[in-house]
Amino acid sequence: MKTRTSPAAISVWRPIDTDTFLLGAPHYPEHVDESYWARDAERMAAAGFNTVRMGEFAWHIFEPRQGQFDFELFDRAIAVLGRRGVKTIMCTPTATPPRWLTAHYPEVLRVDGNGRQASHGSRQHADTSSPVFRAHSRRITGAMAKHYRHNPNVVGWQTDNELNTTASESYSPATRREFQIYLQDRYNTIDALNFAWGGDFWATRYDNFDQIVLPFDHAPGFLSPGHVQDYHRFLAVATACFQHDQVEILRASNPAWFIFHNLGRLHDIDFRGQFSTDLDFAGYDIYPMLYDEMQRVGGHAEIQALHLDICRGFSGNFIVPEQQSGFGAQPTFSTMTPEPGEMRRMAYTSVARGADGVLFFRWRPAHFGAEIYWMGIVDHDDIPRRRYDEAKQFSGEINAIKDKILGTHVRMDVGIAGSDFDNQEAHRTYPIGLPSPHDDAIILHRHCYRAGIACGYIHPEDDLSPLKVLYVPHWLMWKDDWTARIEKFASNGGTVILSARTGSRDENNHIIRDPAPGPSLSALAGITVEEFGRLAPIDGDGLFALAGRYGGGAARKMFAAESARRRYLLKIGNHEIAAAHMYELLDLAAGTEILGAWSNRFAAGRAAVTSRRVGKGSIVYVGTYLTENLVGVLIADLIAQAGVEPLLPNLPEGVEVTLRQSGDTRLLFILNTKDEPVRLERVPAGALLVADAPVDDGALVLPAYGCVIVELHSV
Ligand code: GAL
Repeated sequence: MKTRTSPAAISVWRPIDTDTFLLGAPHYPEHVDESYWARDAERMAAAGFNTVRMGEFAWHIFEPRQGQFDFELFDRAIAVLGRRGVKTIMCTPTATPPRWLTAHYPEVLRVDGNGRQASHGSRQHADTSSPVFRAHSRRITGAMAKHYRHNPNVVGWQTDNELNTTASESYSPATRREFQIYLQDRYNTIDALNFAWGGDFWATRYDNFDQIVLPFDHAPGFLSPGHVQDYHRFLAVATACFQHDQVEILRASNPAWFIFHNLGRLHDIDFRGQFSTDLDFAGYDIYPMLYDEMQRVGGHAEIQALHLDICRGFSGNFIVPEQQSGFGAQPTFSTMTPEPGEMRRMAYTSVARGADGVLFFRWRPAHFGAEIYWMGIVDHDDIPRRRYDEAKQFSGEINAIKDKILGTHVRMDVGIAGSDFDNQEAHRTYPIGLPSPHDDAIILHRHCYRAGIACGYIHPEDDLSPLKVLYVPHWLMWKDDWTARIEKFASNGGTVILSARTGSRDENNHIIRDPAPGPSLSALAGITVEEFGRLAPIDGDGLFALAGRYGGGAARKMFAAESARRRYLLKIGNHEIAAAHMYELLDLAAGTEILGAWSNRFAAGRAAVTSRRVGKGSIVYVGTYLTENLVGVLIADLIAQAGVEPLLPNLPEGVEVTLRQSGDTRLLFILNTKDEPVRLERVPAGALLVADAPVDDGALVLPAYGCVIVELHSV
């Protein structure tokens, strides 16, 4: 394995600097009798695996009593695997502090918003902001780092496990104290905090930092958005500091180790802050069938693509430390089951969208505990069946072409502004029943995914120059620096699409005192917002149906009828469509062109969508929220006018396509997400690196879940 170098600055265009494509599985040798281990290692090696991940829930084995360490079990497991050429990624085991720790130091346990202390017996029960828990985290990390620093089979580390996935908040007395310290540091004076939180509203002024309380939900009324925003900023900083402790210790012990974290639910993590800059690359756990049922936004293939594209926007290429292999369950739910060929196809989707390593969750299922039905690569009876065969096929194929894949980034013509923690939270502090930036952007992402347009997420502070279009989904907190960046992008020929409410709050979560979208964006876009108001969702059930808070069935029907009557129509070219969620009435500066106008009720004739030329490009302002129709009649045209073409024309439904590229290398991934064959007519010429079907005179019949990678001839 190539010696680790310090990673380049985080960027969506950053590949992982490695010559090894990590292939393998999370592995729990502590769950089976040692007599299984040698056969496991043999089978892994035969499957082409080079890596396992271990130890994330084994603190009780590493340190059975405070200060007494015992590494023997894992030392033997690592050695058995090492003899077969399978290296180990070790994990800091801080997701599951052992019982002696929580019994002696109960103050480390999280407390929920109802004041209930977490009990021992599952995971993520300890509060990462607790100084006592942080001290224990440093102790166990230090002991493990010291023990493994010269072990040639330990090649890298994962910090903790899916930080903040099970729980991210805590309302304990210790959390409150840490929150106060954070605020003191942030504001310096209590007056500055009172200003930021709006202390003259509802007499929420504080006399000193010791008086500050945690933002309990409905306590009994609503809190200031500034207070809530700062609590989440605090949680994100606390999470980053908790991880930083571990990173610092590991780096000092062996600078050759790579270090990553496996992201899960992404709560209270600022992906572009210290949390990411501390790491060599991101890890992202992928359970498409779980995310699909949890979020219901368009099928598991589409949602996998969405999650991967969002993750890549944080810091570039990543690894998938846990890739769904089979059926999965926890006591109260279970996932759908990947069909034959589908596990491999899902793994290729990860690679197609920026994974430079894939570990299948998990080597074998547990026979006890809370995840007895979370299947692995081999089954409960230790028999390798179709999942083993697919993992072996996938690893063999990837091992053969890894040198072509590594070093490439994923092409994006359309970028969606993403991974901004403050903007994500600014919405969450005060959602008023509107879609989040994430919900809104999904509609555009889906359009691009289905049309085969190279699309992904990018932060405005990243290098925008490879893009042709940038869409900004309702970012309430806009920074002036970003205006200069998008201006430059537009001047060089890019199209920027800004949407309603962008820039309308400042960093304290106050509404700005200038006309929206604020001086710098108004000047650039050539508009100001004169008035705004809410519209019902297209297929929603009424103006007041916020999370079912008001009214039962009959009331909801009345609201539905009322909101249908109050539809606002938007005229774009020859199309007239219903708008949703919000209208804005725009005032135009000289030189700004109207692309769309309101066409009924009191707003008829007022500008709703505008464009202003800036250098060789343009800034478009859309004074409403995206709908499928609006993307179809407006955004699709803007994308085409910006010179974006699909990676493959007339993409059949269910086929996904991406391009990984670098210099002259261009790898076109064509993946059939469906359980039936599909025909493509115009596949460009090139060498087939992975070929579930031949390309015959430009035509390709992909079998069910079939995968093809074409290395395109250079242009
Ligand atoms: C992940 C987690 C694993 C396992 C898996 C299946 O979120 O990191 O430890 O729980 O889900 O539930």
